[in-house]
Amino acid sequence: MLPTIAWQGDSVLMIDQRKLPSVEVYVTCKTAAHVAKAIRAMVIRGAPAIGVAAAMGIALGMRRSRATGTKQFAAEFQKTCDLMAGTRPTAVNLFWAIDRMKRAFADAAQSGGSVGDIAARLDAEARRIHDEDVAGCRSMGAHGATLVPETANILTHCNAGALATAGYGTALGVIRAAVEQGKKIAVLADETRPFLQGARLTAWELVKDGIDTTVITDSMAGAMMRQGRVDLVVVGADRIAAKGDVDNKVGTYSVAVRAREHDIPFYVAAPMSTIDFNTPDGSRIPIEERHEREVTHMGGVRLTPGGARVRNPAFDVTPAKYVTAIITERGIARPPYEVSLSAHARDTGPA
Ligand code: MRU
Repeated sequence: MLPTIAWQGDSVLMIDQRKLPSVEVYVTCKTAAHVAKAIRAMVIRGAPAIGVAAAMGIALGMRRSRATGTKQFAAEFQKTCDLMAGTRPTAVNLFWAIDRMKRAFADAAQSGGSVGDIAARLDAEARRIHDEDVAGCRSMGAHGATLVPETANILTHCNAGALATAGYGTALGVIRAAVEQGKKIAVLADETRPFLQGARLTAWELVKDGIDTTVITDSMAGAMMRQGRVDLVVVGADRIAAKGDVDNKVGTYSVAVRAREHDIPFYVAAPMSTIDFNTPDGSRIPIEERHEREVTHMGGVRLTPGGARVRNPAFDVTPAKYVTAIITERGIARPPYEVSLSAHARDTGPA
């Protein structure tokens, strides 16, 4: 699997997810501003991946800083953090990663570190966030695979794979782990209008791994469920409120409601960094509204008549009552989530 994001000397490299699957090309970011622009433009996307990218972008910016004293360096650091925080509003992993970088900065500054020492500490923290993400996905995969029968048709929505993380994936990590255990898995990938993360990215990843994959349009999922062609659903998340309401790619809510109607388990796989204990329920989660052109055009061709209003909310909220279980790197949380997720948060032992 090609890396989603990596260091190359003094630059951050990202596979350009706007161009997949037809073109496999990397974008080279030489400044923090370039990383921020790449996150906003969806060169890199997916909650954990944008957290990792923001951390690497901050480390990159501070590594290249010309500040001569810690005061100037601290002011530049704050500006860089603000820049990253303004890229996308919904995925909480972004803000979680920025907070980690802020804590690393404060620790290094408190122990009297020079500008060079602090930059080195930020660099190390960004690398840790990257590596922990991959390890967390593997752990999530192992826990989640216990929920997958020996033979299963699994439906997923959007892309919660290696491309949406530092590697391996959350929902696709569960699928990968089940396949690695020798289970017979076939995946139904919702195309995920309008950015087509399912058709373009999930299918690209799974086909590369030799996993049986069928792409369907979002509107076909209900019929597939009714025909008995879906044994379980597994998706990722951008933010999970304390009570277990799940914010994920728009369309996830409809999948969850249809799964309930057909008694199909609906699982969410997400790292602890996606759980926002400061947000009590889903109604408080900011939903990003993206440019209408993503809806009105496809491949540069206009689909809708001028004059028609267009909406493009990028995410929706699935109430906790539709979620069968939440898989984290710490294990499997069951309802009531205010209790089980808090217990996962307290469990700081090895995942
Ligand atoms: O707009 P995107 O592509 O960044 O949205 C991504 C999703 O909604 C994913 O399902 C979510 O981030 C989980 S990724 C492990």
